[in-house]
Amino acid sequence: MPTLKFAVLAGDYIGPEVMSEALRVLAHVARQENLTLDYQEAEVGGAGIDRHGKALPDSTLRRCEAADAILFGSVGGPKWENLPPKEQPERAALLPLRKHFTLFANLRPGLLYPELTDASPLKSERIPQGIDIVCIRELTGGLYFGQPKVTTTLPDGDVQAVDTMVYRRSEIERILDVAITAARGRRKKLCSVDKANVLETSVLWRRTATEYVARHAPDLTLSHMYVDNAAMQLARDPNQFDVFVTENMFGDILSDEMAVICGSLGMLSSASLGAGRNSLGLPFGLYEPAGGTAPDIAGKGIANPCAQILSAALMLRFSFGLEATARRIETAVRTAVTGGTRTGDIAFGRPSVGTRAMADAVIAALG
Ligand code: IPM
Ligand code: MG
Repeated sequence: MPTLKFAVLAGDYIGPEVMSEALRVLAHVARQENLTLDYQEAEVGGAGIDRHGKALPDSTLRRCEAADAILFGSVGGPKWENLPPKEQPERAALLPLRKHFTLFANLRPGLLYPELTDASPLKSERIPQGIDIVCIRELTGGLYFGQPKVTTTLPDGDVQAVDTMVYRRSEIERILDVAITAARGRRKKLCSVDKANVLETSVLWRRTATEYVARHAPDLTLSHMYVDNAAMQLARDPNQFDVFVTENMFGDILSDEMAVICGSLGMLSSASLGAGRNSLGLPFGLYEPAGGTAPDIAGKGIANPCAQILSAALMLRFSFGLEATARRIETAVRTAVTGGTRTGDIAFGRPSVGTRAMADAVIAALG
């Protein structure tokens, strides 16, 4: 009986509410498919600060190290907003986790079911089939981590801050590998997004993409696009993309744009895959919904659990190699939502259900 050993870091506000529903869905498929769930919960984010004085407590990190994957909720919120920026839950929990486990590849599916096109701020006639694209963002390089990263007072009394954008060819190649695999599983189209008309890192990025894809993936159609144009094209005609790959900061911005055109943040999952292998020889990864902690609706039992459930499905796919099970969960979410069971964020004025009932509908669809 396969054992799924993962760490559960639910985090703050709606984090624990949607996490418990995702765990209920996992428990259901585990019973159906004879899988053993072996998970350990640990505090992270504001919960870590409150309990251990740190957004990423050492005990939490140890639990993650002992696991094959991390199922993550979301962190941060008004309660901790007055802390210095470096101690804020988002920055002090997520960034060190990414660095520690070298989670260099962030996959964000931009999926909007045709039945939910009303949820998108784009006109429905632009996306008659909904949206189905994938953003692959480099996650451990570029401006986020490049050194030097300092604020100094200059001799003339002025104050100067520096962030450094730096990429090595090897870092670009390994994210391209992930993008190539993703593109091969879809429409064999890959768009590399950069700012090669201005940035040195982007010149290297573009050259590396061209050479690497020509050598290792001649079966793919590779295109290049400047990031400013990509931002515009996403709003104009998102489905012209299939898979796009980009550096850390551009990916941060474009993935939020992608999230908003896909309607509700409550539906979007993500996977951050590591360079390391877990005990099964598969990528160690962190799986989290895109939506954040939503403090305004926390405690009301109305948050949409779908993104967390879909993130759990990604964990089964990438870190546990359970492709068929992942697909079953994804299909069940789709069946539940298109069948009319909707939380408030995707109900468009029609009757809506709470967090638990939404997960119940997913479980029912799983049979
Ligand atoms: C994201 C978030 C993070 C990022 C923040 C919270 C540090 O915006 O995962 O996209 O910028 O990477
Ligand atoms: Mg972001």
